[in-house]
Amino acid sequence: MKERVFSAIQPTGIIHLGNYLGAVKQWVQTQKHTDCIFCIANTHAITIRQNPQTLHATTYNLAAILLACGIDTEQATLFIQSSIDAHTALAWILECHLSMGELSRMTQFKDKSQKHPKNINAGLFNYPALMAADILLYDVDSVPVGDDQRQHVELARDVAIRFNHEYGETFKIPKAVFPTLTARVMSLTDPSKKMSKSDDNPNSMITILDSPETVRAKLKKATTDSLGQIAFNPEQKGVYNLLTIYQSLTGYNTESILGEFEGKGYGTLKERVGEAIIAEIAPIGERYAVLSKNMQYVQKILQEGARKANEIASVRYTLAKERVGLV
Ligand code: TYM
Repeated sequence: MKERVFSAIQPTGIIHLGNYLGAVKQWVQTQKHTDCIFCIANTHAITIRQNPQTLHATTYNLAAILLACGIDTEQATLFIQSSIDAHTALAWILECHLSMGELSRMTQFKDKSQKHPKNINAGLFNYPALMAADILLYDVDSVPVGDDQRQHVELARDVAIRFNHEYGETFKIPKAVFPTLTARVMSLTDPSKKMSKSDDNPNSMITILDSPETVRAKLKKATTDSLGQIAFNPEQKGVYNLLTIYQSLTGYNTESILGEFEGKGYGTLKERVGEAIIAEIAPIGERYAVLSKNMQYVQKILQEGARKANEIASVRYTLAKERVGLV
């Protein structure tokens, strides 16, 4: 039996370099040798107010972007979260096995509550239970994510262990896996913060559909420091972020990168990082341009994905439901 992998991404805005290097690129690599299930987490997205038409459109667009990034549905299953009711149904059962204390410790809940003080809704609080349901429905071995999802996957493990202990073996215990270099890609304008879709400053992130001119312009504006030294020094947050992005995209080792930039300034570093990003994302943009004109094809892929995912999810949900005594 192949190892099974599950991960998901929210359809809020176009995906950025952090999503790509932290998660999606790992997914594309792992689908070749594992049984992969990838989900567009649109149900999670409504924990923040969304414009319904926009959410509807970005959900399908994200599917086209993921296919353009190289998700291959001959090898992997891709579906939309809201097309399978077992996700929210299992989330309810899991919520009844998670404490308020555990949920209130989640840093994402604290961050998002601060950012949206007028809409601290119960869904935002229960968000990790839905995420645990996503994972536990699929008998998953591993969950490739960026570092900001570490705490949520940990909680999914905790609730699965608790449930199994109380009701007998029901869920497989998953483990989170992170990319070695880019588990936390930082903002280009404020490298003390992670690159984030909800950042109001468009220069803080490279989106996967940025044109070469936009990438170059954003890199030029990237924050560095006044030391003028190109070294893998985590204290030099901006430079370190650019170097790790460069290393992850090129695959060059540390010595050869340091050799390449010896005696060079930040201008050269920004230029080379920009070109490496363009080389990676330009073909994605081209494939997206074709796919986005063929949304019927994308929708068919998603329907087929939902059919396959539902077969797996309904087995695990039915068992969990029986275990807690629900008729
Ligand atoms: P989301 O949509 O915020 O992000 C999708 C993936 O991108 C990663 N990521 C980053 N990685 C590195 N550097 C960054 N700056 C960066 N920003 C985002 C995230 O860690 C994630 O892997 N709750 C999840 C979606 C989700 C999910 C799941 C994930 C729903 N159910 C089940 C795994 C398993 C989220 O909001 O990701």
